Amino acid sequence: MKRELFSSKIGFILAAAGSAVGIGNLVAFPVMASQNGGAAFLIMYAFFVFFICLPVMLAEMSLGRHTRQNPHGAYSKIGQTPLWNGVGWLAVITPFMIGVFYLVITVWIFGYLAKAVMGQLDTLAQDGAFGVFINSNELYIYMAVVIGLTFLILQSGVKQGIERAATYLMPALFVMLLLLVGYVLTLDHAMLGVQFFLIPDFSKINVQVLTDSLAQAFFSLSLAMGILITYGSYIQKNNDIVGAGKMVAGLSLLVACCAGLLILPAVFWSDPSIDPSELTDSSIGMIFMVLPKIFLALQQDIGFFGASFVASFFFLLVFFAAMTSLISIIEVPVASLMDTKGISRRRSLITLGVVMIALSVLSALSFGRVDWLTSFLSYGGADKSFFDVIMDVFYYSILPLNGLLLCLFVIYRWKKVNLHAEMREGNPGFEGSLMQKYIDVSLGTFIPAILAVIFLLNVLGRFFGVQVF
Ligand code: PHE
Repeated sequence: MKRELFSSKIGFILAAAGSAVGIGNLVAFPVMASQNGGAAFLIMYAFFVFFICLPVMLAEMSLGRHTRQNPHGAYSKIGQTPLWNGVGWLAVITPFMIGVFYLVITVWIFGYLAKAVMGQLDTLAQDGAFGVFINSNELYIYMAVVIGLTFLILQSGVKQGIERAATYLMPALFVMLLLLVGYVLTLDHAMLGVQFFLIPDFSKINVQVLTDSLAQAFFSLSLAMGILITYGSYIQKNNDIVGAGKMVAGLSLLVACCAGLLILPAVFWSDPSIDPSELTDSSIGMIFMVLPKIFLALQQDIGFFGASFVASFFFLLVFFAAMTSLISIIEVPVASLMDTKGISRRRSLITLGVVMIALSVLSALSFGRVDWLTSFLSYGGADKSFFDVIMDVFYYSILPLNGLLLCLFVIYRWKKVNLHAEMREGNPGFEGSLMQKYIDVSLGTFIPAILAVIFLLNVLGRFFGVQVF
């Protein structure tokens, strides 16, 4: 089977930005920034995006394009040992499992969108509504719709499915985000939120904040999930990978900043004396518990219909962002199965879909509905649900480990000269550039070292209850 390619550099940029821009940028970033020193956090985050994450991103894209393979294929083709073959499998199983938890969250967002559109914003804003919603039967209807849409997009292939979805959804997302920011900035006390977001407080930065923000930047750029290897394998040879990577990182950061200018002013409008750092400590709490209340309160200004409209608009925006991320992560195992077994896209989707649906249902049932799933395992001094276990194992532990292994693989197994040669394609000026020197040094030394530290800290904290810092 001939490998499908993205039609152009911009097609790739939109697809990769679609993967990068997700719930992380729109909600997790503003929540983290408001707790950790506003602009101080932003500056540090931007530094991590360009100096730590970008080299890893470019390495993944180059590896994908060079091998024209899914992550497992890429590792085994170049690695040629059982060890690298195993690492390759890890690079496929991880996105699959992260896909399971991302699917569950996307389903929640779609459910909130549907309910806001159906005029049930007042129900969503009640205390305890989220707990009721995630344990309701209607959740499975929303799940069926999200899975159906994901299937339809992926079934249509790289150009007609992934790229086309991104070329519609991403520009729509940018415009909607700007409109919402514009609206929120006209609200009373909005400037307090802007100030809070933009005035740096460096005293909040400590080692924990540093590692958390780096992990967030890593997740947000979809690194170490095999996504950029897979999408990289669909890039044309004459496209400039370095330029495209910079664009993707920049877009993702820009969206995160705009989201800060959306969420914080809205929070201050609802209560000018609020300390946002005490509002909620999770992005899940923010989207599903805090924001519906704020949206409903807008009815004093613009009526219930207006408030529902704004809420629906916001959830649609987040839903678009989540969908483009979801399809990118599911494409990894889909491509892997197609490449390794030589089967059609459809068969690969159906096979994986069945397993994924089963795991997602188990996760969705682990929020109190089914006891053994809710207290699935006990470690690190707490009972963990099935959903928590997936997060702890794959997101907190294997993700940084995969990043670390990728750096070592690219520099010490695939070798720098080959990486350079791939990056030079479509970008002849890359040879001898400062960027090239930086990538060489960083990917072989301090980036893997930092990822090793994050991996160790997370494993100790999550599984053994040891907080080093
Ligand atoms: N970049 C996404 C976000 O910020 C994260 C993600 C991408 C998660 C792809 C899963 C799959 O939300």
